Amino acid sequence: MPDKNIALKIEELVKKFGNFTAVNNLSFEVKDGEIFGLLGPNGSGKTTTLNMILTLITPTSGSIKLYGKDIHQNINESKKEIGFMTQETVIEQDLTPRENLEIFGELYHIPDLDNRVEESLKDAELSDFADYKASAMSGGMQRRLALVRSMIQKPKMIILDEPTTGLDVQNRSSLWDRIRKLKKQGMTILITTQYLEEADALCDRIAVIDHGRIKAIGTASELKAQVSTGDILEIITTIKYVEQVAQILKKFDLKPEIKTDIVTAPISKTEVIKFSDITKEVIKNNIPILGISMHLPTLDDVFIKLTGSGLRDSASGSPKISIGAKK
Ligand SMILES: Nc1ncnc2c1ncn2[C@@H]1O[C@H](COP(=O)(O)OP(=O)(O)OP(=O)(O)O)[C@@H](O)[C@H]1O
Ligand SMILES: [Mg+2]
Repeated sequence: MPDKNIALKIEELVKKFGNFTAVNNLSFEVKDGEIFGLLGPNGSGKTTTLNMILTLITPTSGSIKLYGKDIHQNINESKKEIGFMTQETVIEQDLTPRENLEIFGELYHIPDLDNRVEESLKDAELSDFADYKASAMSGGMQRRLALVRSMIQKPKMIILDEPTTGLDVQNRSSLWDRIRKLKKQGMTILITTQYLEEADALCDRIAVIDHGRIKAIGTASELKAQVSTGDILEIITTIKYVEQVAQILKKFDLKPEIKTDIVTAPISKTEVIKFSDITKEVIKNNIPILGISMHLPTLDDVFIKLTGSGLRDSASGSPKISIGAKK
C-alpha cells in the first residue's frame, strides 16, 4: 500500500543528455502538505528534475510516483493533480488576466469555469484588473496571475520553479506569504530556488543539490547543525591571502573552508576564546582584513561545506545565491 503521507516519491532518478548527466541518481520524498525545496546553483539539475516530474521529458532511468502511482504511466491524471509555474512564466500580454485564466481552464475542461476564474482573480487580488491587458500589469501582478493560473484545476500539489527570481524584495516577500498561505490550505509544494534565505524562510525540508546530485536533505536547522553546533568564524581578506589565513586557522586546530576571498571555520562554544588570538595572529602577519565576524551557521555555510569549493557563481558572473542574513 502506498503511504498516503508521501505525495511524491522519487527513486534513483537519472537524466542524461548524450554523455552529460544532468540528474545523477536523485532520490527524495515530498511529504503531503509540506513545502519541500530543491536548493542548488545554476545548472545543478533542478529544472531537469521538475521537467521529469511534469512528464515534459522522459527520465533515462529511475521512478517518480505521485501518491503511489507511477507518473509516467498515468500522465493525464498526474497533469490534473500537479500544477506548475515554470521558470519562464508566459502570460499572454495581449490578453486580460480573465482571458489568460479562461484559456488555461478550458485546457483542463473545468466545469463552472466562470466561477473558478472569478475565484482565482480574487485569490490573486486582481479582480479590479481582470479586464485590462496583462501587458499593463507589474511583474509582481503577473507572477500572482501565473500562480493562480497554475492552480486553476485545483491540483493536490504545486511545483514552482524559481518563483521569485527577478522579483524585488517586496514582491518576493508577498509571494512567500502567498506560498505559506497555500500550505495552510493543505497544498503540497515543491519549490526550486537559488536563494538560500528563501529556502530558509519557506521550506519545511530542503534537498541541497549540486551537479545533479543530492548533497544533503533535512530541515534548515538540521542542515545547519551538520556544519556546526557553535558559531562560524568568517574572515574576509583578498584572494591572495586566503591560503595564508587558512593556514593560521589550521594552527588553531580549526577546519577552514575557502570561498573566493572568504575563509570560514566552525568554532564550538568552548573554543570562542580563540577568536582574539586568531585576530592577533592575522594582524601580526600583515594580512589585510576586510571583515571578521562570528555568526550562527547559515545555509550558506552548509553549502560551502557540502559542495567543497563553495558556491559556484552563476554563468553571468553574479552569484544569484545570496549570502544568508547573518544571525
Ligand atoms: N535539453 C538539454 N540538452 C542538453 N543539456 C541540457 C538540456 N537541458 C538541461 N541541460 C543541462 O543540464 C544541466 C542542468 O540544467 P537545469 O536546467 O536542470 O539546471 P537548473 O538547476 O535548473 O539551473 P538554473 O538555476 O540555471 O535554472 C545544465 O548543465 C544544462 O546545461
Ligand atoms: Mg532551472
